[in-house]
Amino acid sequence: MNVSPEPTDSAIAQPTIQTARLLLRPLALNDAAAINALLMDKEIAANTETIPFPYSELLATEWIAPQLQAWQQGRAAVFAICLPSPPANARLIGVVGLEIDSPNERAELGYWVGKSFWGNGYCTEAARATIEFGFEQLGLNRILAYHKTRNPASGRVMEKLGMTHEGVLKQHTKKWGKFEDVAVFGILRSSGRVQKK
Ligand SMILES: CC(C)(COP(=O)(O)OP(=O)(O)OC[C@H]1O[C@@H](n2cnc3c(N)ncnc32)[C@H](O)[C@@H]1OP(=O)(O)O)[C@@H](O)C(=O)NCCC(=O)NCCS
Repeated sequence: MNVSPEPTDSAIAQPTIQTARLLLRPLALNDAAAINALLMDKEIAANTETIPFPYSELLATEWIAPQLQAWQQGRAAVFAICLPSPPANARLIGVVGLEIDSPNERAELGYWVGKSFWGNGYCTEAARATIEFGFEQLGLNRILAYHKTRNPASGRVMEKLGMTHEGVLKQHTKKWGKFEDVAVFGILRSSGRVQKK
């Protein structure tokens, strides 16, 4: 993982992270069209807690702006997952982020990837770098993540990240009128268990 601050920004600028195949960069307001194009897919919304369906470019814009502010306020670190080639035309393929609980030095990891890019290890690669960023750059002690029990792909990502299955929360969320069971995974900085591969 290679972390580089934005060249022109102040000390609190959100950095860009380079992984073997991906570029994780701060969101920008003009990502709204790309995010909307990827989220015009009910399967992504169905597997997340908060993404609505149908989606729209306006919803994307209204979601991006608070994420930028949240970084400034130390409440979140959200990155656009991009395929960097060719570098001048990096393509946004998903989003990964940490929602930070500063008093408890912990964060909740969240992610989604556009359907046509699934199954290439991109989410795992992006989330691994985000966890490393959370421990090494943000000084977090614990990172947790939730997935609906009917969404094993996300659980598999968490396993591949070296996270520990900590339990199942019965009927923890209500999506589109239906209560759903949610699994919780966690990882501690002291565990040293962030899987490199
Ligand atoms: C979950 C998600 C982010 C995974 O993205 P991805 O880039 O395909 O993830 P990866 O390729 O890194 O890993 C996916 C793993 O899940 C596995 N998988 C896929 N479908 C599966 C299923 N039905 N059952 C079990 N494992 C499954 C893949 O085989 C792969 O594991 P492997 O490397 O051991 O073969 C993507 O499917 C997505 O965006 N889903 C909708 C939104 C979502 O679920 N977000 C997470 C909310 S908690």
